Order: sequence, then C-alpha cells, then structure tokens
Amino acid sequence: LKSDALAELAGVNDAQALGDIRVKYLGKKGALTEILRGMGALSAEERPVIGQVANDVRGAIEAVIEEKQEAFQRAETEKRLAKETIDVTLPGRRLPEGGLHPLTKVIQDLEDIFVGMGYQVAEGPEVEMDYYNFEALNLPKNHPARDMQDSFYITEDILMRTHTSPVQVRTMLAMQGESPVKVIVPGKVYRRDDDDATHSFQFHQVEGIVVGKNIRMSDLKGTLLQFVREMFGAHTEIRLRPSFFPFTEPSVEVDVTCIKCGGAGCRLCKQTGWIEILGAGMVHPNVLEMGGYDPKEYSGFAFGMGVERIAMLKYGVDDIRHFYNSDLSFLKQFARL
Ligand code: PHE
Repeated sequence: LKSDALAELAGVNDAQALGDIRVKYLGKKGALTEILRGMGALSAEERPVIGQVANDVRGAIEAVIEEKQEAFQRAETEKRLAKETIDVTLPGRRLPEGGLHPLTKVIQDLEDIFVGMGYQVAEGPEVEMDYYNFEALNLPKNHPARDMQDSFYITEDILMRTHTSPVQVRTMLAMQGESPVKVIVPGKVYRRDDDDATHSFQFHQVEGIVVGKNIRMSDLKGTLLQFVREMFGAHTEIRLRPSFFPFTEPSVEVDVTCIKCGGAGCRLCKQTGWIEILGAGMVHPNVLEMGGYDPKEYSGFAFGMGVERIAMLKYGVDDIRHFYNSDLSFLKQFARL
C-alpha cells in the first residue's frame, strides 16, 4: 500500500490530483482507513504491531503529501508574483486636477488685498429684512430709489437681499460704537433681472465699509486705487464720477482703465477706454446714526462692487452666464490660476 501510494504521489503535479490521492488512501473510505477499521478482528498481540505499521504508512504518505502541497503553493505564489511585477520606471498616470472657480478665485484675491490693508471679512444673511436692506440705508418705504434694485420679496418685510450693503448696518450695530469699523463683505445678492450676457438674477458682490474719526473722501480714493492696482495691475487708473446712492453722500461711480483690451474698443469697455466697476461714497449721516455712530464725531466711506464684473474684466470673459454653466472647457482655463 505504501509503495503504491508513494509511486502514485511521485507522478502528481497539481493540487487537484494531490487531493484525490489523499482521499483515496487517507479519506473516510480510503485504503488505509479500511485497514485500521479491520483492526478490531485482530488478536491482542497482532493489534499493536499492525497498528504501528499502519501509523508509519500514514505518516509517510502524509509527509509526502504535505511536502508536495507546499511545493505547489510555492510555485503558485511565484507565478502570481511574476505576473504582478511592477515596472517602477513607467511614468505615472496623471489624475484630472480640479481648480478653483474663477469667482471663488476673485473673491479670495479681493479678500487678500483688503486683509492686506487691515480689513476684516464679515458676512450677513441672504434672506434679509427690508429694514436692513433698505430702511436703515436711508431708503424708506416708497422711496423711488428702491426701483434701482428690483427685489424678490418673501413677505412684506423680508426679501432676498439686493446688495451686500445691509451688512454695513449690521456690522456697525455689532461694533456697538467702537471704531474703526473696517470690513469687507463678500456674498450673493438677488435682483429681479432677466438673465442676459451682463445680468443675472443672482450674482456676487463685495461690500466695503470703513467708519472712524476723520475718514475722508481721499481715503476712499486712495484705497480704491490701491485695490485696482493689486487686482488688475500696477498701471491701472481710476476715475470717480458723481453719482447717487441714498446711503452715501457724496456718491460716486468708479471707473477703471480698460486693461483687458488696452484702451478703447473692446466689447466690455465700449469706446471710452474706461469701464465702471463699483459704486461708492461717504456713508450718509442718517446711516451712521442708524448704525449707532454720531455723524458729528464719526465719518466713513463705503463701496460695493460686482464680483462677476471684476472677474469678466480680469479674465476677459464676455458673458456672465459662463460663470454658472459648469462647462468644463470654460472652467479648465482657470484651473491653474
Ligand atoms: N449697494 C450699491 C449697489 O448695489 C453699491 C454701493 C455700495 C454704493 C456702497 C455705495 C456704497 O449698487
């Protein structure tokens, strides 16, 4: 039996055949098991002798099976490793890389520029009370200038804010008369406009407000000049045109030289070489008062600009809708900025 088994094992060269032989000799109905089962019929003297022999045979067969099994496993592992060899000299595969949205980028640039001038960044609610959006900004109910900003009303007293200016008042109140107040306020605003190349019912603004002692118009002008030069380049110029906002007096609109097309003639700048980028002015005494600052003692300036407009100018984008379409071929151009 032993030599049969060993002979058979010698010819085996896969794990399946090895298993079959194990069953054939050592299994429940295997040849050796049969013999052991028959031991009951043997005499007391024969039993230990035969038992000893049977155990030796089992041991020998098992040893060979185990040895073979290990060899098969080793071969298997080696085969797998050979297949899994990694060529470390191959160049890596590039993963598609995301980037910041151009509007996010411009807001971050704006924040960096103004934080660099000592401003803090504040925020306010997009769903706003009529009081902060209009009344506390010197625009009482039925004031004709409310028409400048067609609004989405939610109730009679609550609306989607039409500008970031309500945060001027909220900030002043939060400061409880302390000075200087010096914040910028980025955020979304909402107006009932029909969407087109330059209008969107929702867009972004950045507001700025400074309140303190002896704050003058020249401070506003210097601040804005510094800002545009950091944003658009060192040769950018600004010009202030008289304008009207109920919450500032005097009020101005501010133009920058049209850097993108290098002068007159591009679509954004029309023919003049100048393009408007923001509204600004000296904080109206009524607004200072409603914010808890005595206009006899304090003065301030404020400005508000559209982020999309800044981004369109900076990157030469001619349609505001590009910013909202999530078109990858558009967005990819900004991925590495
Ligand atoms: N809130 C004004 C607008 O949305 C801009 C502005 C802000 C003007 C602050 C003056 C001062 O048009």
